[in-house]
Amino acid sequence: MPIMRQGLLLLLSVLACAACQFTLALPTPSPSPPASARVISKVAFGSCAEQDQPQPIWEAVLASQPDRFVFLGDNIYGDTTDMALLRAKYAQLGRQPGYQRLRASTSVVATWDDHDYGVNDGGAEYPQKAASKAIMLDFFGEPANSERRLRDGGVYTAYRDGPAGRRVQLLLLDTRWDRSPLQRVSRAVYAVRQLLFMGPYTATRGSDVRLLGEDQWRWLESELRQPAEVRIIATSIPFLQEGTGWENWSNFPEERQRLINLVVQTGANGVLFITGDTHRAQFSRWTEGVPYPLWEINSSGLTRNSLQPVPELHRIGGIYTGDNYGLIRIDWNQADPAISLEIHAVDNAIVMQQRVRLSELQMGDSAR
Ligand SMILES: [Fe+2]
Repeated sequence: MPIMRQGLLLLLSVLACAACQFTLALPTPSPSPPASARVISKVAFGSCAEQDQPQPIWEAVLASQPDRFVFLGDNIYGDTTDMALLRAKYAQLGRQPGYQRLRASTSVVATWDDHDYGVNDGGAEYPQKAASKAIMLDFFGEPANSERRLRDGGVYTAYRDGPAGRRVQLLLLDTRWDRSPLQRVSRAVYAVRQLLFMGPYTATRGSDVRLLGEDQWRWLESELRQPAEVRIIATSIPFLQEGTGWENWSNFPEERQRLINLVVQTGANGVLFITGDTHRAQFSRWTEGVPYPLWEINSSGLTRNSLQPVPELHRIGGIYTGDNYGLIRIDWNQADPAISLEIHAVDNAIVMQQRVRLSELQMGDSAR
């Protein structure tokens, strides 16, 4: 028996050593880009950009001189399982003169939505998601050793900038990689809905129904526990919008509630949602069961828009249906920083605006 035991120990040592060498051979993953001391005062964002069309919106974005631009998804219209074609479509975006000037002048970061993921309204079932992810991350210059690239999971990631008292956290979610199938209404119901410009989707529930995977939920909780004064949560599809029948988090009500609960349970102050996908721009606000109002700034599209007046239950103000981008402007010089939530048109005019104070985005003591 001792000989067998020694043999077993020897075998385990060899395996351990082999595993050690294998691990050392891999690039070292970094959980997210390191925090920077750079003060972020202007975050621009947008979605739905047709790579084969003129993109004059970039002149407006550049005129605002944002500290960062966030692509919220449908950054190109890929819609293919042909990865050579997908890469060629990203290259078309890369040749847009306005986009080139943007890359040269500011930080550009991105998550994706269905069309750049590869399939309209697609989810976990899309067969080319790993290859598509590699092409997307190549295009946006993701470092070779980032965990985002190396993990077997979605493209979610976080950025943290600013000194204590002026920290801005940007959380980019992935609403495609693990998403369960959408639930559709009957053809007869959809026929009626179409008269109201509503979409075909309805709520789906169940313990196995998910919008984010468990790895992303764990990451999100740990991020929300990090200190920050302003937290911008970017999700490609609308988070607060409801009653549209199109893609949004209300099609997954348990997942949406889970995220609201997570914000409350982690005591995360300063949350603002930025979203895309809809081909119009609008604001939504949610006050039910939360210690402070949740705001969503929906900006869509950079080039592709719709004139349809889609109903939405939590909308504040109207909609804007021309080319647009969003801008969050934070005035850190005030004792209670003023935050301007803006939609800008292609001539850079502010066409929609809401103003909040940082003090309005704080948990009450009872909520902690
Ligand atoms: Fe989309």
